Amino acid sequence: MAKKRIFSGIQPTGIIHLGNYVGAIKNWVNLIEEYECVFCVVDYHAITIEHDVAAFQENILTAARTLMACGVDPQRCRLFVQSHVPEHTELAWIFNCITPIGDLERMTQFKDKSQQHRENINAGLLTYPLLQAADILLYKAQVVPVGEDQVQHIELTRRTARRFNTRYGETFAEPEWMLTKTAKIMGLDGKTKMSKSLNNYIGVLESGDSIWEKLRTATTDENRKRRKDPGDPDICNLYTMHKAFSPQATVEEIDPQCRAAEIGCVDCKKILFENMMKHLEPIQQKATELEKDRDAVIGALEKGAASCREISQQVMDEVRRKVGLR
Ligand code: AMP
Ligand code: TRP
Repeated sequence: MAKKRIFSGIQPTGIIHLGNYVGAIKNWVNLIEEYECVFCVVDYHAITIEHDVAAFQENILTAARTLMACGVDPQRCRLFVQSHVPEHTELAWIFNCITPIGDLERMTQFKDKSQQHRENINAGLLTYPLLQAADILLYKAQVVPVGEDQVQHIELTRRTARRFNTRYGETFAEPEWMLTKTAKIMGLDGKTKMSKSLNNYIGVLESGDSIWEKLRTATTDENRKRRKDPGDPDICNLYTMHKAFSPQATVEEIDPQCRAAEIGCVDCKKILFENMMKHLEPIQQKATELEKDRDAVIGALEKGAASCREISQQVMDEVRRKVGLR
């Protein structure tokens, strides 16, 4: 039986943090064997908010390098940059022309981002989910691994497929979303989701010294004010990170130790730090090797794009024909 096709994307924001790693990339790597995977660095999505033009190409390459270092192996899946395949924006335009504005104005991410970037509520921010729908439907992907926050966009993608089919004839199947099982990683403040814009993150490629400095000062269960106070792992962000990076046995040990105040936060953080670095060191090593071999990364992305264009050009031919464009 043919493998189901997966599509997912990540924005080149300049830093890939532990939230991205645990919430998305680690999951992608696990799917490569079982599915035919198409993974994309979505640079057109990234320019819906103000971006650093001078650093943009470097940020795209860093994102690709980090993905590859994490195990998104371009030999075993398609890995490419969105703007290298022009059919993405072409299909998005067609979707623009069949989607009521109201559907887009309802999107939570649009509402959030228009709050955050009041000085720049551009049309691209509004139609962002249709570019995402184009990403997915251009490859007729069946499954889309995403975090909870993206489910609404996948629902819109399904609606867009239905709308297109009703208007122009059966073309697209409705893709399913696959929710990332791991818990959301909170930022170092323990209060908000780890994210680049809130500057509360740990980067996958950060040095051990820098990571320790951030962990050392990270907020734990705030009710635990003194060493002898019992803590509650359920509300401690560091415990969520233990679940992502420490062996199961350690995770199970720490829970009662924390509740009984047998272990202090600093010691708990030291254990976490060690396990985290065991995870990150091989990734960082690989990323350093790839940094020295830029041409290999650029070559892999070009190969990925060429292979994607074989699919996207066919699908766009079909779409143009159905819409009466050619
Ligand atoms: P973004 O950086 O918003 O483009 O996110 C890329 C991917 O990482 C998405 O699938 C998100 O769901 C996931 N992600 C981002 N931040 C976190 C976080 N703090 N915890 C878990 N997953 C996250
Ligand atoms: N909007 C997604 C995010 O912010 C990124 C993305 C773009 C994406 N295109 C996609 C995710 C297609 C899944 C499928 O995380």
